[in-house]
Amino acid sequence: MQEQFILSNQLSIPSIGFGTWQTPNGDVAISSVKYAIESGYTHIDTAAIYGNEKSIGQAIKESGVAREKLFITSKVWNSDRGYESTKKAFAKTLSDLQLDYLDLYLIHWPANSKQFTNWQSINAETWRALEDLYKEGYIKAIGVSNFMVKHLQALLKTAEITPMVNQIEFHPGHRQAEVVELCQQNNILVQAWSPLGTGKMLTNSTLVQIAAKYNKSVAQLCVRWCLQNGTLPLPKSVTPNRIDENKLVFDFEISTADMQTINQMPYCGGSGLDPDQVDF
Ligand code: A2P
Repeated sequence: MQEQFILSNQLSIPSIGFGTWQTPNGDVAISSVKYAIESGYTHIDTAAIYGNEKSIGQAIKESGVAREKLFITSKVWNSDRGYESTKKAFAKTLSDLQLDYLDLYLIHWPANSKQFTNWQSINAETWRALEDLYKEGYIKAIGVSNFMVKHLQALLKTAEITPMVNQIEFHPGHRQAEVVELCQQNNILVQAWSPLGTGKMLTNSTLVQIAAKYNKSVAQLCVRWCLQNGTLPLPKSVTPNRIDENKLVFDFEISTADMQTINQMPYCGGSGLDPDQVDF
């Protein structure tokens, strides 16, 4: 199991990222991100809407780790869709993070058919801004998040550059097989947000039993399961021992039979957010 994935533009990306959704701005974000970097994480995932970019920027600066050793991702929020607004939002994100480039920038959610009749052209325009920022050298890789099959297929019709990443909700209880397959066919790396099901998978009896066989926690099983399915997990924690634990997954391998058992689990623990129906 590699500790890096290689994106379609040959950029290397650390294979576990530190998730920060629901990490409050201020002391908690500063101390948890600093702790994660000390603990060995080099990949941090945030978003403008998380409201914690300023603290994450401060943590990165105070960590003293060289910028080029870190992989930093952010995302453009829904209210900033469109070419000019996206470019403005990107500038604010860079300034809040105190950075002069991002490693990865994503469209956070697709404009969807419940919200807009012209959702396809809105996504295409937002994407064009990301393509230009990428060509101008402000971002090393670009991608999308929460894009389902219909959103990706529509975007691929007009995109000059195929997204390198699609970050979706992905954990043992919510596997989104159709979109994962489309991404893998198009060399789009799937990143898993909430790989622990926001913690809801941790008491699942099937997972508890399987994890015990490997002397690992259920969190470690979920992270490893993501990797063995070819996806990049982004576990979130603000708790030092959990931050350490969640990345200790390179010293065991889930057997084919156990992968199959997990890959056939019924839907459970999903957020219920349908990217084609949400109205934010
Ligand atoms: P906390 O941040 O308080 O440590 P997900 O990554 O799927 O969104 O899950 C995040 C949730 O799971 C958070 O509530 C986090 O709590 C909790 N969590 C993260 N890692 C672990 C772990 N190793 N053991 C138990 N709970 C964890």
